[in-house]
Amino acid sequence: MTDKVVLAYSGGLDTSVAIKWIKDKYGYDVIAVTIDVGNEKDFSAVREKALKVGAVKALVIDAKKAFVTDYLFPVLKAGSLYEGVYPMATSIARPLMAKLLAEVALAEGAVAVAHGCTGKGNDQVRFEVAINALAPDVKIIAPAREWGMTREDTIKYAAKFGIPVPVKTGHAYSTDENLWGRSVECGVLEDPWAEPPEEVYAWTKSPAASPAKAEYCEIDFDKGIPVACDGAAMDGVALISKLNELAGKHGIGRIDHVENRLVGIKSREIYEAPAAVLLLTAHQSLEDMTLAKDQSRFKARVAMEYADLIYNGLWFTANRQDLAAYVDSTQRFVTGTVRLKLFRGSCTVVGRKSPYSLYSHGLATYEKGDQFDQSAAPGFIQIFGLPVKTQSRIQPLFKSETDKKSKGKGK
Ligand code: ARG
Repeated sequence: MTDKVVLAYSGGLDTSVAIKWIKDKYGYDVIAVTIDVGNEKDFSAVREKALKVGAVKALVIDAKKAFVTDYLFPVLKAGSLYEGVYPMATSIARPLMAKLLAEVALAEGAVAVAHGCTGKGNDQVRFEVAINALAPDVKIIAPAREWGMTREDTIKYAAKFGIPVPVKTGHAYSTDENLWGRSVECGVLEDPWAEPPEEVYAWTKSPAASPAKAEYCEIDFDKGIPVACDGAAMDGVALISKLNELAGKHGIGRIDHVENRLVGIKSREIYEAPAAVLLLTAHQSLEDMTLAKDQSRFKARVAMEYADLIYNGLWFTANRQDLAAYVDSTQRFVTGTVRLKLFRGSCTVVGRKSPYSLYSHGLATYEKGDQFDQSAAPGFIQIFGLPVKTQSRIQPLFKSETDKKSKGKGK
């Protein structure tokens, strides 16, 4: 019996060529697996193409629900953005894909899993580290990293073996998309000084061309998870899809980032993440109201660690499970409603409420009903400032140059 390999199949040129190339180079039968994480494609056409190009079997797995529940919501609860800006749409889909590929490989008794990543990116690391964690005995093949073909060579190879080459759109961008956002790189974007041309964007209106009238939207959260929009309960997939459309219409979620790849390269990427930006903004504002100061601060550090480990492909690790447990614990009172104003590229929180709000009007108000005991303030300041006073008496503070000069002039 011929050995089998499970290939992560997108339907694009590289993975189509890979079907033939793996058969020739390794002699394996290829099982093509295409994973639907909200990348809105004609999946039956993708499946057909895999079979036509020579796969012995082609599966399409609808993983949208699992993607939202087990991957996107944990990231949202953590409030993680890689390097403070990137919502990690591409990064967070990889462990789920790797998990499904490993499952198919084990079920089919395949000897290897293959992916179409090159040797310069993060995705190869994410796939391989995850597959090694879940199916350590399965080999990994990375055709696009091994074959040493340029894009032109690949097109020639495809033509030679009757593999359909996608019609050139004229724009040399590399894109990836799913429910959490869209990633765009290459072409003119490789010049970090070049402003992204409008054609780069597919999900967001230019803020200049977005509606002149602001729109409001209310998101209900239950323990950190968004459950309704404008009072209508929705499942996660429907909610995120709706918000991508709504926020995209108002030009929200465009991100231009020069990021640090795990493999040591700085790369310029454009992201569109309307729903992610909206939800992260709303969620943060609800936490501002329901978490204590120390919780918020410590959680922000965890969010950064969490972002790094997702970006670096370390999802299936004990460390990730431990951080997730902490994050879940922080969310037990993150329940309430956030009101957002969407207008010309910005998404602003204009209202928030929660049954667990720590905001006390009686303590905050400067008007009637003030419950704050101002007479306790001097005692508080006396003790709080005690070490400062003590130290400055014994160890006089540095006088800055400007201080000296201005004193000199004044005399
Ligand atoms: N730089 C992003 C990441 O590593 C996205 C990578 C995929 N981007 C693309 N345009 N194909 O997560």
